[in-house]
Amino acid sequence: MKRIGILTSGGDCQGLNAAIRGVCKALYEEFKQDIEIYGIHDGYRGLIDGDYRKMSPRDFSGILTLGGTILGTSRQPFKLMRVIGDDKKDKVQCMKNNYKKMKLDCLVVLGGNGTHKTANLLNEEGLHVVSLPKTIDNDVWGTEMTFGFHSAVEIATNVLDCIHTTATSHGRVFIVEIMGHKVGWLPLYAGIAGGADVILIPEIPYDIDSVTATLEARNKAGKRFSILAVAEGALSVQEAGLSKKEFKVKRAAMPFPSISYRLANEIAEKTGQEIRVTVPGHFQRGGGPCAYDRVLSTRFGTAAAKLIKEQNYGNMVALQNDSIVPIPLSEVAGKLKTVPKNCEEVMSAKEIGITFGD
Ligand code: F6P
Repeated sequence: MKRIGILTSGGDCQGLNAAIRGVCKALYEEFKQDIEIYGIHDGYRGLIDGDYRKMSPRDFSGILTLGGTILGTSRQPFKLMRVIGDDKKDKVQCMKNNYKKMKLDCLVVLGGNGTHKTANLLNEEGLHVVSLPKTIDNDVWGTEMTFGFHSAVEIATNVLDCIHTTATSHGRVFIVEIMGHKVGWLPLYAGIAGGADVILIPEIPYDIDSVTATLEARNKAGKRFSILAVAEGALSVQEAGLSKKEFKVKRAAMPFPSISYRLANEIAEKTGQEIRVTVPGHFQRGGGPCAYDRVLSTRFGTAAAKLIKEQNYGNMVALQNDSIVPIPLSEVAGKLKTVPKNCEEVMSAKEIGITFGD
């Protein structure tokens, strides 16, 4: 009898249920009656506290298109995993104990960057772990694509499309703040797909004068409106020169709720133009997965089941050259997949006149 534990950890995204379904349906197909699957609640929190339930094949039917995660999720920061807090718990030891108590053969983890650091730690501690890369940020190292990303691109693009019509009517400048944490994949893709005039991403720090010059040039050319797709993690050239600590202090003192509002203020002061800010926020993570993510989640899920069947543990399934391949967790953990400054997408955007503020 095989016993598998499965959990989803970190911020949710579209396609989690589709991926859970992919893993578990493929496992039931392979092992028939010889498998028991345990759903661990709220990510690593459930493994630490021993909070889980035995699943049945019926649990994985009808969830392909469902948003969120049927297992629940939570953020359990990696840097606190070894820290004994008020609860006096050694979280790593608790997870090891519960893995043993549940008599698991393998733990399946669906998560992003933080999740993979802990997955690697558990693997180093001797647990059998197989993981799947999820996140709307598409910043997991080693895979060309994470599931959730394309669904979020669709939503952010739709926001830009809708903003276009009202911006045109009023002749206004609009800033749309797009998620992505410390990387710019989501604003880059949505910005291109949504026809933004300016795209600002963390990997290309912006010069405010270059941004306002673009807006003024559009005005002179008789364009009635401008749209900026701004990454939540965008930063100025000056900020890029600061140390991590100095940057934190500067941002903590910033009298605006987010970078977009600061930009709006700077642009209004420099150009006298009327600016509006739209922040779709967690809306970008909500709802069901797009068709691309349903397929990718299913492919990742069945590939993870194959690794379990082959007892090829300690790996994340990844998309490379349109094939799904295993990558050791030790290679993935602690690395971020950022947007290369001169990648094809950035160059292509620049070739049609989109400004990055550099
Ligand atoms: O990592 C996914 C993400 O949605 C990021 O784009 C965003 O910065 C972050 O999570 C928001 O985190 P939380 O859900 O904890 O507010």
